[in-house]
Parts: sequence; C-alpha cells; structure tokens
Amino acid sequence: MAVLLSTKATTMQAWRDALLAVDPSLEIRLFPDAGDPADIEAAVVWTSHDMAELRRYPKLRLIVSMGAGVDHLLRPPGPPPGIPVARLVDRMLTTQMGEWVLLNVLRFHRQDPDYRAQQRDKVWLELDAPVTAQRRIGIMGFGELGTHAAGPLRTLGFPVMGWTRRPRDVPGVETFHGEDGLHAMAARSDILVCLLPLTSATRGIVSASLLARLPGGAFLINGARGGHVVDADLLAALDSGHVAGAALDVFEPEPLPADHRYWSHPKVVMTPHAASITIPSSAAPQVVENLQRARASRPLLNLVDFSAGY
Ligand code: GLV
Repeated sequence: MAVLLSTKATTMQAWRDALLAVDPSLEIRLFPDAGDPADIEAAVVWTSHDMAELRRYPKLRLIVSMGAGVDHLLRPPGPPPGIPVARLVDRMLTTQMGEWVLLNVLRFHRQDPDYRAQQRDKVWLELDAPVTAQRRIGIMGFGELGTHAAGPLRTLGFPVMGWTRRPRDVPGVETFHGEDGLHAMAARSDILVCLLPLTSATRGIVSASLLARLPGGAFLINGARGGHVVDADLLAALDSGHVAGAALDVFEPEPLPADHRYWSHPKVVMTPHAASITIPSSAAPQVVENLQRARASRPLLNLVDFSAGY
C-alpha cells in the first residue's frame, strides 16, 4: 500500500524525506505519479489538490491536510464519502502563528507605521508612550492557534479576550461566545485578531457591521483565511480612518491579483500566506501515527468534524 503526496514539487521532496525518516517502510507516491490507484491508502494533500480526483482510489482510508486549515478540502465536492480527514495540529505551526501575531500586535502597539512615515519624511517627533495594559486584544478563534498566540501577549501585559463558537473558560482570558459576545468583544478590541477556521458560519464575519463596532483607530490582524474579511468593507473602514491599520497574511484569491488595492494601501501590511508554514519534519510523526491508527481502525488524531467545518 502507498501514501500519495500532493503539493508543490519542491515541498513534496521534503515531505517524502520526513515521512520516510519516521517510517522507512512507507511506499510514497508523488502526485501526479500515483501508480496503480488501488495501491493508495492515504493521501496527504495541500490546498491545490482536487477532491474529485481522490475518488479514483478505491482503497483510500485516510486524507490528511498538510496544514491546520481544511476549508479547501471540505468545499464541494468535498472528500470522498466515508473517508476521514485529519488536519495538522503542530507545535511549529502554532509557534509561527504566535510569532506573526506578536510581530503585528507590537508593530501597531509601538506605532511602527507612524514612525516609518516619520522616517520617510525626516520628522523627529516622539509619539505618546504606549502602555500594554491599555491596549486590549480580542482574538476571534480560541483553539490551538488563538490560545497559543495569547500566551506571549499576556506576558507582555496586554489584556487578552477570546471569542469561541461554544462557551469556554480560559484562565486569565475573558471569553465570549455567540453573536452578541462577538459584538461585545469587538467593542473593546483595540486590536482584533482573526484566527478562526473558515466555515459557512465564519465566511465574511469581518464585515462593515463588525468593523463599525471596533473602537475608532483600532487595528485588524488576519492570519486565518481571506474569506473571513469582506475586502470592500475593510478598505472603506481603512479609508475613513475608523480602522487605523491592518496586517493581512491571507487573501481571496491567492495569490492576490496585482491590481488589488491592498498591495499599495498605506495602512495595510501584507505577507503572502506565510505567517505559519508547515515544516514536514515536525508534522510527519502525527501523519504516520494516524496512518497506523487508520490501519488498525483505532481513533484518529485531529479528526475533522465535517458538521462544524474544521
Ligand atoms: C495554513 O494556512 C494552514 O492551514 O496551515
């Protein structure tokens, strides 16, 4: 039996090496060279892979996402019926996302956009001293990524709030849930961070009505998916000054078209979906563990709940 890998050609080699380092007995096939379709028992795939294609493999028993997000795997036609999908929950992924959130919180907190503009104009002017205790951070999505991102922010003294789908107690963090909860948290978020999974319930959640609830001069940080943000609404809020700046790592579509206004907007800082990149050697052990569990019909790790959409 064989494992099918499907992602960019350069990354595929790293995945193959990482999986073989954990289990040298694995037979690995690199898409599109799948060989005999009846050999494939597991598919480890990234966003580019067409889910309809996975219906070709009659013995497929496991699909693994090469990332934390699985929205791309669940959109129609979705995975072949009855085949479980696992996502990655990986320390390196959560660490990188935590770093990227911290980078951008500090960028906005320490008035970096203003100081960069002053440097450009050769202006020597101290701005008001920022105080972490007075800069409230609201994190939408308080699962693996959100919880981890909150840690260093709390250590620095930022008051951290978290919004979750279901009520949840997190020591040291004020938590909110439901639509009213989101509105209440937004009203107090000087920096709003989106780390939600993209589902039918969260698509377009960062809309004009949510942005309008932010305190004037708030900032937005989106490390989740481009589909969470209504771009026209964010651009209008940035243009009016109600939102003072946005750090965006994710877009719809990706790559972002060259004529999109975000590229040159003075209040937007962008990274090309690079906040958190899977490191195959870190992720491989859980993929092999899940393959062994699937073979033995044991419960899988990090199984995607199709009804929740993540
Ligand atoms: C990256 O976007 C991921 O889903 O891991």
